[in-house]
Amino acid sequence: MKRIEFHNREEEIKEIQDILSVEPMLITFVYGPINSGKTELIDHLAKQLPKDYVVFYINFRGKFISDYSDFIRVLFKVEREKDYKEILKTISETPVEALRFKGIPVTKSMIDAVFKKSYEDVFEFFEGYFTKLSESRIPVLIVDELQVIKDIKIDELWIYKLFNFFIRLTKELRLCHVFAITSDSLFIEKVHSDAMLHGRCRYLLVDDFNQEVTMNFLEKHGFGKEEKGISWHYCGGKPLCLVELVNSQSKEGKAEEMFKIRKGQIEEIVYSLKEKNKKTFAAVLDVLSEFEDRDKIGYKYLREETRFLVEKNILFADPVNKELRAQSMLDLLAIRDVISRQKSRLFLLKIRRGIRSGHVR
Ligand SMILES: Nc1ncnc2c1ncn2[C@@H]1O[C@H](COP(=O)(O)OP(=O)(O)OP(=O)(O)O)[C@@H](O)[C@H]1O
Ligand SMILES: [Mg+2]
Repeated sequence: MKRIEFHNREEEIKEIQDILSVEPMLITFVYGPINSGKTELIDHLAKQLPKDYVVFYINFRGKFISDYSDFIRVLFKVEREKDYKEILKTISETPVEALRFKGIPVTKSMIDAVFKKSYEDVFEFFEGYFTKLSESRIPVLIVDELQVIKDIKIDELWIYKLFNFFIRLTKELRLCHVFAITSDSLFIEKVHSDAMLHGRCRYLLVDDFNQEVTMNFLEKHGFGKEEKGISWHYCGGKPLCLVELVNSQSKEGKAEEMFKIRKGQIEEIVYSLKEKNKKTFAAVLDVLSEFEDRDKIGYKYLREETRFLVEKNILFADPVNKELRAQSMLDLLAIRDVISRQKSRLFLLKIRRGIRSGHVR
């Protein structure tokens, strides 16, 4: 498979560079639909930062976290050969481009010490760590797939303690930039409505490419007029989907295959509800039918059936703009297909009933 070069994101890059050019003030929540390119953007940016920055990137995706000790293991990266002073010295003095770490480098003995204490001590430990570092460099903490931690049962106030720590690093001590990335709209919705975070965070939407950026991307990869039309019709500006097309010989065949798969998945999710809960099934169809002739709809709060569709990653809820839309163009097409088939089914059913009762000849 061809390595695809990073494309565009000029506006988002400018916005993040502006955030990084001043003292850390707010936590930045980076959100957007699935596979819109959030991680790719942050990774690309981290590689380009000047040498006075040091980036700590922690990704919770795929990490099995059931308790506090699992959480700690994901946060840290044990440098077995080095002692604490050596680690800090390396970070402070290495005269290359911005250093990037996957996890926060510590020694084995530090990890052991952390394990013996409670989690307030971990946050205290980090505070000391970042304070020391900030004397020579600008630390940037990036936490990807943050929503994974929402279900960790440490204690009920766990997530608040973590957010409090982020507030302390940014607004209070101005020590470290904090970026929290998530594609879970229910999580971002929860964060958005949380009184504790009001005035302490900002939201940055990383959306699918718009049409112009998509066309430029496709042209760069040698797509002709017809291929561009097919790509936009099926994939819209979803970067992952476009990359799949770039890597396929038959663009149309690949697009149709992706559509067929997504349609099957959505049908399965929606129709399996019919057996379990007829009322929710009907309500879910009602929500979906609103997308028959519209791309997005406004909302005031998320009702149970909408929450279900968001949870199943069929719809994306944007709590900042109070908008609901399909997670992707493929999802939108699949939703429309499911609704139109359902309507035809109901229509046929009505006719059959009419015939049986003698109203239709
Ligand atoms: N700006 C870009 N230029 C080129 N390719 C991109 C770009 N953004 C994303 N991609 C492609 O799309 C894929 C998905 O992007 P990425 O993993 O960053 O999405 P995401 O929003 O973080 O997804 P998730 O919602 O699952 O966390 C990447 O692996 C890459 O192939
Ligand atoms: Mg990601």
